[in-house]
Amino acid sequence: MKNTVVVGAQFGDEGKAKITDLLAQQADFITRFQGGSNAGHTVVANGKKYAFHLIPSGILYENKICMIGAGCVIKPEDLQNEINQIISQGVSVEHIKKSLKISPLASITMKYHCDMDGFSEDALGKNKIGTTKKGIGPTYTDKYRRTGIKVEDLFNSDTLSKKLDIILPLKNKELEFVYNLKPYTKEELIKECASYREILESYVDFDWQDNLNEIKNNKTILFEGAQGVMLDIDYGTYPYVTSSNPIAGGAAVGASMGVKTIERAIGVFKAYMTRVGEGAFITELADETGDKLREIGGEFGVTTGRPRRCGWFDAVSAKYSVLVGGLTEVALTKLDVLDSFEKIKVAVAYKNKKTGKTTTQYPTDVFTHQDYEPVYEEYQGWRTDITKCKSYDELPDNAKIYLKKLEELLGIKITIISVGPDREQTIFV
Ligand code: GDP
Ligand code: IMO
Ligand code: MG
Repeated sequence: MKNTVVVGAQFGDEGKAKITDLLAQQADFITRFQGGSNAGHTVVANGKKYAFHLIPSGILYENKICMIGAGCVIKPEDLQNEINQIISQGVSVEHIKKSLKISPLASITMKYHCDMDGFSEDALGKNKIGTTKKGIGPTYTDKYRRTGIKVEDLFNSDTLSKKLDIILPLKNKELEFVYNLKPYTKEELIKECASYREILESYVDFDWQDNLNEIKNNKTILFEGAQGVMLDIDYGTYPYVTSSNPIAGGAAVGASMGVKTIERAIGVFKAYMTRVGEGAFITELADETGDKLREIGGEFGVTTGRPRRCGWFDAVSAKYSVLVGGLTEVALTKLDVLDSFEKIKVAVAYKNKKTGKTTTQYPTDVFTHQDYEPVYEEYQGWRTDITKCKSYDELPDNAKIYLKKLEELLGIKITIISVGPDREQTIFV
């Protein structure tokens, strides 16, 4: 396999983890490059269901290295809980210690970041983003403001002390006077960091430069994205986005191996669309069809349990994702969820209700989205159970017509079709 990045191409939860887990069979090294425990990644393997948040979805295989890369943000208690969870499901501690690596350059989510995330959301009231309240935005804000704490800082008490002397007076002013939250003493933060050091110490790869040189030159690499292009901080439905770059280019920054290491970018799309949290969603169906998609698709958040908003496939935003996400091929998931639908719709353009004009360009100003309505094309459903189809040829004709149409609209090939959550329920085209 060529070095591949798996990118969510919609609003997250497209089934990236299933695709990553599958492709991980052919990789030696699997690395997350952005995001944190806001991600909720489901892998169904050997009859068991695993939910990953920070740990890369390749962890279930023997003899693979899984890295949480420099572009990620880590809330150590969440990582500990996740490790405990997969141990309780039968994965051995020794296996995790051998397979899991953490970049010393990843950022730490402190308790105050979560406090600030919660406070900002409450303060925004009806304008809230609907974040996962995992402290993601405040951690990245501190990183870019140059007042963040990195994993490696936990392992050098002099550096940590110096950094806290710089960060703490500022942070306390912000906590007290902007957020009306409790300030911290340096001792409290040193103690917090000591507990994080204990959680992370078995996994931090201090020899990462030598190790990544070896991997870059001799191994097959899979880059695992979290969230999705439409939640990208630069290209998503800003401000209703996450605070990192889920696009393929994010892997070039966050995985510490540069641009040329990435040879192939698979965009994972659901055969319809979902979104959790607030923000525009032009093909959203607030009706019984939306309810049906949610029910059949089991559309509830892995991280927060929130019901996902559901709607038809939006080819306008999908084409935009292909462009800005740098996608070279498509993995289409959850095609089976459409099995019982008589008609299936795809938005091929948007109509501006004010001007009457239609457009196939994605309007990036989301505050204008209420002016647009989707222009749909309608297809006949296949009304057949496809969950046991093993090849493209076995798919019903109407499903093939739907796939061909999507390929035409997106301008790139669908190379993987997923017809169920299991590893086996996958068609490679
Ligand atoms: P991710 O965040 O992109 O990895 O996706 P999530 O795990 O949040 O959500 C995808 C959900 O769909 C999970 O429950 C998967 O087990 C499930 N899933 C993935 N692919 C398929 C598929 O082709 N068909 C069905 N029915 N479920 C799928
Ligand atoms: P995976 O990797 C779906 C959404 C939140 C909110 C916005 C900002 O499972 O696809 P944040 O906590 O990141 O500051 O929240 O982004 N969001 C996700 N939606 N899947 C995810 O991850 C998400 N991670 C964040 O709901 O709208
Ligand atoms: Mg998810």
